[in-house]
Amino acid sequence: MTRRFCLVTGASAGIGRAFAELYAARGCDLAITARRGDRLEEVAQDLRSRFDVEVECIAADLADPSAPKTIVEALVRPADILINNAGYGVRGGFSRPAWETHTTFLQVMVEAPLALSHLVLPGMTARGYGRIVNVASVAGLIPTTPGQPLYGAAKAFMIKASLGVSLEMKGRGVNVTALCPGFTRTEFHDVAGMTEALKSLPGWIWMTAEDAARCGHDAVEAGRALCVPGLANKALVALAKVIPDRLGLELMHQLRKHG
Ligand SMILES: NC(=O)c1ccc[n+]([C@@H]2O[C@H](COP(=O)([O-])OP(=O)(O)OC[C@H]3O[C@@H](n4cnc5c(N)ncnc54)[C@H](OP(=O)(O)O)[C@@H]3O)[C@@H](O)[C@H]2O)c1
Repeated sequence: MTRRFCLVTGASAGIGRAFAELYAARGCDLAITARRGDRLEEVAQDLRSRFDVEVECIAADLADPSAPKTIVEALVRPADILINNAGYGVRGGFSRPAWETHTTFLQVMVEAPLALSHLVLPGMTARGYGRIVNVASVAGLIPTTPGQPLYGAAKAFMIKASLGVSLEMKGRGVNVTALCPGFTRTEFHDVAGMTEALKSLPGWIWMTAEDAARCGHDAVEAGRALCVPGLANKALVALAKVIPDRLGLELMHQLRKHG
């Protein structure tokens, strides 16, 4: 039987790299994409040598609206599995950054993963097999993300879209999961300029990229449309569901003032 073929975005670091390793360890061939081609080659060489799988590297910037089509057209064969993972946070709140900073962000965080899904889904449904994991965040399930209002909004959009697509795919062999990690040790917080501010967080709040990827994999295999990994994150999401919006926002305000 031909090996499954898995496309992972943002595989040059963090959760995406962990997903790539997880699927390679399960015998899948891969296409990995991100902007840093040298990092992709390094990941690819490591996976090829450890797991005897084929790994295609596609250097691309998802801020470019044509990137999803270019990536899918470059695939050596159609993707059976898509991990929409690439992402980052924008510093400086809403009003300070230039508008183009926000439109670029929304392109990478919302439009690109949806476009990639839209491009691969017809093949998946025709073959009667597909898996899509949209790496969202607990940030999309709490009232807002202080200091980065569009981050939580983009993740909330992706969660809703992912849940809707998962329903549409029911009974067609295609499972779609929104994975909602909380604080995960990756390069994310360095890139977002948050490392210093998060230094005082207790160790138990953090999870590893490998654990986040494993939870996402297990959820999509089990056909679960929403996955919040880890007890602390589950508790936070449960709390966010029951407290009134006004109180939730006030808590976020206090966090921002004292964080
Ligand atoms: N870390 C956390 O605490 C956390 C929590 C919840 C959710 N998440 C989500 O998890 C996902 C992965 O983040 P991470 O924590 O693994 O962060 P990371 O270590 O910084 O990795 C981010 C990945 O996204 C890629 N990327 C960023 N901008 C891109 C662009 N314009 N075009 C193509 N690729 C791009 C980066 O590659 P290049 O720089 O090489 O392009 C890198 O491979 C993100 O969607 C993030 O929102 C993270």
